[in-house]
Amino acid sequence: MYSYNKLFTLLSLFAILYLSGQRGFQVEGGKSKHAPKKLFVFGDSYCDTGNIKKAIANSWKDPYGVTFPGKPVGRFSDGRVFTDYLDLKNSVALVSVAGNDYSYYLTTNGSLAGIPSFIASLVNQTTIDLIRLKKLGVKKVVVDGLQPLGCLPFATALSSFKQCNSTANALTNLHNSLLIQSVAKLNQENKDHPSFIILDFYDAFLSVLQNPSKHNIENPLKPCCTGAIGGYKCGSVDNNNVKKYTVCDNPKKAFFWDDVHPTQAGWNAVFHELKSTKALHQILHN
Ligand SMILES: *[C@@H]1O[C@H](CO)[C@@H](O)[C@H](O)[C@H]1NC(C)=O
Ligand SMILES: *[C@@H]1O[C@H](CO)[C@@H](O)[C@H](O)[C@H]1NC(C)=O
Ligand SMILES: *[C@@H]1O[C@H](CO)[C@@H](O)[C@H](O)[C@H]1NC(C)=O
Repeated sequence: MYSYNKLFTLLSLFAILYLSGQRGFQVEGGKSKHAPKKLFVFGDSYCDTGNIKKAIANSWKDPYGVTFPGKPVGRFSDGRVFTDYLDLKNSVALVSVAGNDYSYYLTTNGSLAGIPSFIASLVNQTTIDLIRLKKLGVKKVVVDGLQPLGCLPFATALSSFKQCNSTANALTNLHNSLLIQSVAKLNQENKDHPSFIILDFYDAFLSVLQNPSKHNIENPLKPCCTGAIGGYKCGSVDNNNVKKYTVCDNPKKAFFWDDVHPTQAGWNAVFHELKSTKALHQILHN
């Protein structure tokens, strides 16, 4: 999700094409280092490796990319993002709907009462898009379950990054349960070749946040790149070129990078939580 920016038009699915064989590193535990399999990604900043235009995104500015590759390259993190961690045996389409629609809703309407029906229409539209991708001939279509929005720094800032916002997490759960129902129905209709897979970011994020030391993370809720509550944006400077943010000493110990995006260490931990799930097994091995 691109916080604060009205980049919802990006959700009309921009395509990112990866050739995993061209990537310059091997994921720990990955097997198919040289396999030129394709991952087509439709989505947002949770998976973007630098397709967003430089003019509109702070991800092309310092301090983004400070851990990897050492300079800003458009990734919304200090380093690698989730899609960097997937090694593949078949071509897969990954659909990431990580929250831009909700930032759009909150900035254009904001009525809490209207959220449940908005969630239903969003999941309906996502389902239509998943079917369209399948019809294009993709063997497997993967969709992210929404991460716990109430645990993201923009939502926990009010509690000084101490507690997740349970209202926001309840709404996230509604989104995810509707998505699970929809995807189950699609697979039921296509029993012989079930090809829709949900990646459960919700549980994976919470597992890491609840047991951060397992992943060598010291600051589960406090973002590494931070500033004044409400007004800061990581990467922004004022008219005199003075930074409006500060960066923590060690991004490797933080789960969150900015107000909505995980660090490379955060994504690495999430990937490790997901590695043992059936969904990831289906993506990587079937
Ligand atoms: C906001 O959402 C509510 C509830 O769905 C709706 O009645 C209202 O018309 C919306 N307002 C705007 C400006 O879209
Ligand atoms: C979502 O789709 C379901 C089933 O197709 C339908 O019953 C429901 O009215 C739709 N909801 C919205 C908000 O579009
Ligand atoms: C939690 O988020 C909701 C909006 O989703 C907001 O109305 C509420 O004030 C927040 N609660 C806390 C404790 O921050």
